[in-house]
Amino acid sequence: MVKDRSTTLRRVLAVAAGPLIVKVTVEVMLGYVNYFPPNFDSDFLRGREGYFFGAYRRAFYPHIASGPVALGFGMVLLSETFRRRFPKWHRILGRLQTANVLCVVTPSGLWMAYHTSTGTTAAIGFAILAILTGTCIALGWRAAVKRQFAIHRRWMWRCFLLLCSAVVLRIIVGFGNVIEVQALWFDPAASWASWILPLTTFELIGLKLRRKSRSLAPSVSAYPAA
Ligand code: HEM
Repeated sequence: MVKDRSTTLRRVLAVAAGPLIVKVTVEVMLGYVNYFPPNFDSDFLRGREGYFFGAYRRAFYPHIASGPVALGFGMVLLSETFRRRFPKWHRILGRLQTANVLCVVTPSGLWMAYHTSTGTTAAIGFAILAILTGTCIALGWRAAVKRQFAIHRRWMWRCFLLLCSAVVLRIIVGFGNVIEVQALWFDPAASWASWILPLTTFELIGLKLRRKSRSLAPSVSAYPAA
């Protein structure tokens, strides 16, 4: 029953969130026309001429290339159907994903956090996000190697939700633009909310499901073993 509910929840999320993640990611990538060559009148690059051509550029281009790949791989890797049908490909993609997130997405995000245009509070939020994302995928990978698959799944879900902060942030900021929010605290708050909200929701749902399964356990064990 509890398992059924978590499966239903996963399906609802896949149907509702999957297309949204793809849509926002495609929109972000359409904006890449401003980065080849860098257009310093564009929203993101405005005011960054001073440091762009140094180390920042070496973090920026790998970051914008690896981010969408990580989101795409993440969606495929979390699919139960894909894992059951193509276990070998799940393992291959999983290794590529771990290398991509650990060696490219998170270090580049960490470096870029230092130069964020929305202030120190946002920078700290991005830096914590980078460290947490790297930690989750490393722990998820370790659990897979130890064949602790339930733990592996949970860490990889956390990692994916943290990666989705890129999507959630753009949705929050887009909403802020629509309702014409002027407050200076809005962008820094959005950068924190973009990963805290999905992660907290995931942890609360997990907690509820675990409690429920524990409360059902005695009634299940009351049946004689077959
Ligand atoms: C979870 C790990 C991630 C961290 C820590 C991170 C961090 C950052 C930071 C600090 C910036 C610069 C923000 C600023 O200066 O205001 C940035 C920009 C950017 N990030 Fe990420 N990011 C992550 C994941 C992703 C993912 C998964 C994508 C995939 C779409 C992505 C795509 C981008 C793009 C395209 C930019 C340039 C701005 C734009 O064109 O909108 N990032 N990221």
